[in-house]
Amino acid sequence: METLKSKVELMNEITESIKNCTKCPLFRTRTIPVPGEGSLNADVVFVGEGPGKQEDLTGHPFVGAAGKFLDELLAHIELQREDVFIGNVVKCRPPGNRVPLPSEVEACKPYLIAQIAIIQPKVICTLGNTPLKTLVAPELSIGRVHGRVFKKGGFTFFPMYHPAAALYHNSLRDTLMEDFDKLKDLLNEKNV
Ligand code: URA
Ligand code: SF4
Repeated sequence: METLKSKVELMNEITESIKNCTKCPLFRTRTIPVPGEGSLNADVVFVGEGPGKQEDLTGHPFVGAAGKFLDELLAHIELQREDVFIGNVVKCRPPGNRVPLPSEVEACKPYLIAQIAIIQPKVICTLGNTPLKTLVAPELSIGRVHGRVFKKGGFTFFPMYHPAAALYHNSLRDTLMEDFDKLKDLLNEKNV
């Protein structure tokens, strides 16, 4: 009988596959792939679009300016990075930070789905349009649906603006803070 693999073993296998992955052309231009990281028992998984410059150089998600603001938002609801899991739709940086192509998203999506299946979070927070359209529904747009709960495939989704958007549009800082307050309430509900 096959022994039950632990969450750590299963996640390590995915991370290893990502490091060796050549399923889409992004592997040719990236420096270091960014598989995602955090608690495998997290109640909440945050999903961004894809690695930016700093992430590509370090292999860690959300370590640039947007990541600093994400840390602030987490602290605002008494969470630390270690309490959550942070990942991306594509694991290799698109050149010049362009939006990943549909073919790249399709190639990379199985890794994210497998990561979410291992963690089984209460809530999946999509950050910006790319993860919203990829995981919830392509016709949705973040400006219309941020801060609302969506249920799909047995998972609860909570779309938010991407923290990078608040760096360009200052008014979105408050919107993000308010949506994080709502996220806190959602995580405190018993039957999310
Ligand atoms: N933006 C993203 O979408 N993901 C990161 O990891 C960093 C910035
Ligand atoms: Fe593989 Fe994803 Fe990197 Fe493309 S972006 S090479 S699918 S890990």
